[in-house]
Amino acid sequence: MPAHPAFDADRWSDAVAVRRSRRAYDAAATDPGKLEVLAATAATFMPFEDARAVVVHDIPANLFSGIIGSYGKVTGATSAILFICDSTSPNADEHCGYTGEGVVLEATALGLGTCWISGSFSRSVSAGLVELKEGEIVRAASPVGAATAALSGTERLLYGQARPKFRRPLDVIAPGHETWPAWAGEGARAARVAPSAINRQPWRFRYENGSVVVGATGSAPGTGRLDCGIAMLHFELGARSEGSDGAWVAAAAPDVARWEPFSQAL
Ligand SMILES: Cc1cc2nc3c(=O)[nH]c(=O)nc-3n(C[C@H](O)[C@H](O)[C@H](O)COP(=O)(O)O)c2cc1C
Repeated sequence: MPAHPAFDADRWSDAVAVRRSRRAYDAAATDPGKLEVLAATAATFMPFEDARAVVVHDIPANLFSGIIGSYGKVTGATSAILFICDSTSPNADEHCGYTGEGVVLEATALGLGTCWISGSFSRSVSAGLVELKEGEIVRAASPVGAATAALSGTERLLYGQARPKFRRPLDVIAPGHETWPAWAGEGARAARVAPSAINRQPWRFRYENGSVVVGATGSAPGTGRLDCGIAMLHFELGARSEGSDGAWVAAAAPDVARWEPFSQAL
């Protein structure tokens, strides 16, 4: 089964390598045309019924509020991506992460900054910016626009706390990866640079009976499944770049999902 028609494998794979979270924005420098392209992607990239992303404009200043010290303090953004899920659906969190990260990587490809924010944003303010269907909630949000050329003081401080460039060794997130097929190793490498809340990198991958299973470590309550969904999109980009065609299948907790390849030598 090919990927979702809006899944832009080449463009998003390139974006994986350069994406980083940005929290300081220059709204005047933001090209409205790029935001339009992004909104169109968000409106079409909906692989699951229980998750979607929406681009909103003229956001109130109190949408993003740093609550834990400077973590989450966003400045200068006037547009945002809202990551919405159906709170009644058991797999909505990972679907929301997967869908939202597609839109985030499209923003990166367009040269726009983003930063997933699941803690320090106002749920009530965000709910007033979009029409929600019954059961839907805004699970997370991201500022979007032209990021300032230089990192802000807050961002420099924050990078000491959340260490965006730090990633756990591949041996930790994908033990035994040296013996995996190329597509599985490349998937894990792409997942390794995915964003996660407080840079916890809770995802763990294992190769099992020709497929790859992802789950969150026990120490990752709250956003663990959301983080896994984000990493699933990255994994799929890496796996597909090595010719793996397949699909995600839900897995029983504590696992989250399994990448089932359709056809390749195992
Ligand atoms: C689900 C999720 C929630 C996040 N929540 C916040 C947040 O509330 N505040 C914030 O400043 N950053 C937040 N982040 C951004 C992470 O801190 C960031 O992704 C991580 O430090 C890795 O840095 P990088 O994205 O630059 O690679 C979140 C990221 C994810 C994926």
